[in-house]
Amino acid sequence: MVNTKTLKSSELIDLIADRIAHNADWRESFGDLLEYISTRLATGCGFIRLYNYISNRYLSPISVNNSQKNPIIDGIFDQLADERVPIALPAEYSDYLSGEMQYSAIGIPFVRNGEYLGGLVLAGGEGEGVLDGHFHDLLAFAPYLIPLFESAVLQEILLSNYLDAIETLAVALEAKDPFTRGHSNMVTAYAVAVARKMGLEAQRLQSIEIGAMMHDIGKIGVPDDILKKPGKLTEREFEIVKRHPVIGEEILRPMQHPLFNIPRSITRWHHERIDGNGYPDGLKGEQIPLEARICFVSDAYEAMTSDRSYRNSLPPEQAFDELKRNSGTQFDPDIVSVLCELLGPMVTKPNPETGDRVPEGAEVISEEGTKEED
Ligand SMILES: [Fe+2]
Repeated sequence: MVNTKTLKSSELIDLIADRIAHNADWRESFGDLLEYISTRLATGCGFIRLYNYISNRYLSPISVNNSQKNPIIDGIFDQLADERVPIALPAEYSDYLSGEMQYSAIGIPFVRNGEYLGGLVLAGGEGEGVLDGHFHDLLAFAPYLIPLFESAVLQEILLSNYLDAIETLAVALEAKDPFTRGHSNMVTAYAVAVARKMGLEAQRLQSIEIGAMMHDIGKIGVPDDILKKPGKLTEREFEIVKRHPVIGEEILRPMQHPLFNIPRSITRWHHERIDGNGYPDGLKGEQIPLEARICFVSDAYEAMTSDRSYRNSLPPEQAFDELKRNSGTQFDPDIVSVLCELLGPMVTKPNPETGDRVPEGAEVISEEGTKEED
């Protein structure tokens, strides 16, 4: 069979060079790459999987035209990892796509310095055996793709190491301040829910998840006697506590991975108010990254609705009122609306016997007029 579809080396190399130059997210890069190759070759479906050779496991696949889990595709990837040689599967062995028609499949492994980095599998097409003639073309292109695979795998290994380091820091902070861990978990749940409702895409949600978990990590640098003080802080002590966003950002600064840009900004700016009266930098309005504004509202809501050693919690409805009362000065009104809309249906009713909505002794209003959680 004569193939009329071909890969254009110049286009492919331009695409790869552009992605490397712009340090683009590897999932997006590989998605575009797969789309390009599959379209040029008119294949039925295509898959790329990266292999973390430190943890010895594949990362979740990128696919075009078929995202279904398929045991034969899995088998091809397993064989690529084990044998590290290209695979050309004739059509008569690969009737897995339709169950009736038969298609050929190609598997290409990517290896650098003896480490298996992942594989590319193409299957199907506009007729039986359509891929057979592309096997050698793809083999010729494979070396161009190795830097992209290597860069992506290294990014993933780095990310995995950073997440381990962060877990260690979180455990250390928990030991120092048992309250923070539970608080950070709840802030994270609220922030991710709000961000999802606002339509932020998956990678930003993942960054928000990391950032919200880490937002108070700088408290590791605040002395215990201040952090655990049961009563009201003196002005000097509060000034020390106010350093925690800057300390937190410094802790995360060495973690140079695209997923950590947002967590760094959340950590530094989760106490910035939209009227410019927050800290540490006094940013205003949209100068404050959206993710940090989301965490600020989530942080305040969680703080108001949780018991502390020195005060009781507010009921959710009253916390909503506080957020709304301070919309436009302290908090971003759009974010407050989304959080109230999301959590409103979940709030518990006031005690039917006493009618109490605010526990006695609740002191959540700061001198500024609202709760400021540190
Ligand atoms: Fe904080």
